[in-house]
Amino acid sequence: MNKVLEIKSVSKVYRNKGIQYSALKNINLNVYESEFIAIMGPSGAGKSTLLNIVSTIDKPSSGEVLINEKDISKLDNKKLAKFRRENLGFVFQDFNLLDTLTIRENIALPLSISEVNSKDIKKSVENVCDILGIKELLDKYPYEVSGGQKQRTAAARAIVNNPSIILADEPTGALDSKSSKDLLERFEKLNDENNATIMMVTHDANAASYCKRVVFIKDGMLYKELNRNSGRKAFYKEILDTLAYIGGDSYDDN
Ligand SMILES: Nc1ncnc2c1ncn2[C@@H]1O[C@H](COP(=O)(O)OP(=O)(O)O)[C@@H](O)[C@H]1O
Ligand SMILES: [Mg+2]
Repeated sequence: MNKVLEIKSVSKVYRNKGIQYSALKNINLNVYESEFIAIMGPSGAGKSTLLNIVSTIDKPSSGEVLINEKDISKLDNKKLAKFRRENLGFVFQDFNLLDTLTIRENIALPLSISEVNSKDIKKSVENVCDILGIKELLDKYPYEVSGGQKQRTAAARAIVNNPSIILADEPTGALDSKSSKDLLERFEKLNDENNATIMMVTHDANAASYCKRVVFIKDGMLYKELNRNSGRKAFYKEILDTLAYIGGDSYDDN
């Protein structure tokens, strides 16, 4: 299977006022096409740092990150912006929608920036809205829809340009349990039926149980990996056991 993401000996040191902090220590991880992978670990473990480096928002202190075999740390800012737009899709905890644009315009944004023609934009937007079940919201504004619908809009925007990998940082963090379940089922479907590659950071065992593989990090290091071979409930238990062992927070909201 194609390797979409290759994280090679990545370390990250933050330097603040003369104080150094090692947030990631020699991380090695591959993500293959059509994987749905969760990154878990206690608060402060380095999850967001890792995702930000893969997102090209931040740079590693050492090591390499390859996306579709391209070393993204070697790109200048202009090339990076283009690369990001064409290859990556982002979903954040706080939605990041633009309030002055309709749901349709928010979702279309990555395509409008890439100067795709309006007929193709319309087709792509309606297609992803079908997948995410938000077709009836297209002409509303973000303030007119619920949190769960906002997050599905953000997910639609993340996938509208058919990215090689979807990166989500705590996408269910601001959602109630029903909206979380709904979003996770959409992700699952996107992964199963559209072969989307998804990497999701979460501290929630229930959210992670929708994935096919869970990687645990602790104190900036890879700690353990679990693969889902059976049903989701059994996987959820396995994840909880691992979290209990490494001392992560988890919510029993299954
Ligand atoms: N910009 C920064 N400067 C200094 N330290 C940081 C910075 N960002 C994160 N850290 C530290 O790095 C560690 C990992 O942070 P983070 O990746 O956000 O953890 P997580 O997402 O797993 O909760 C934490 O101890 C955090 O305080
Ligand atoms: Mg975080």
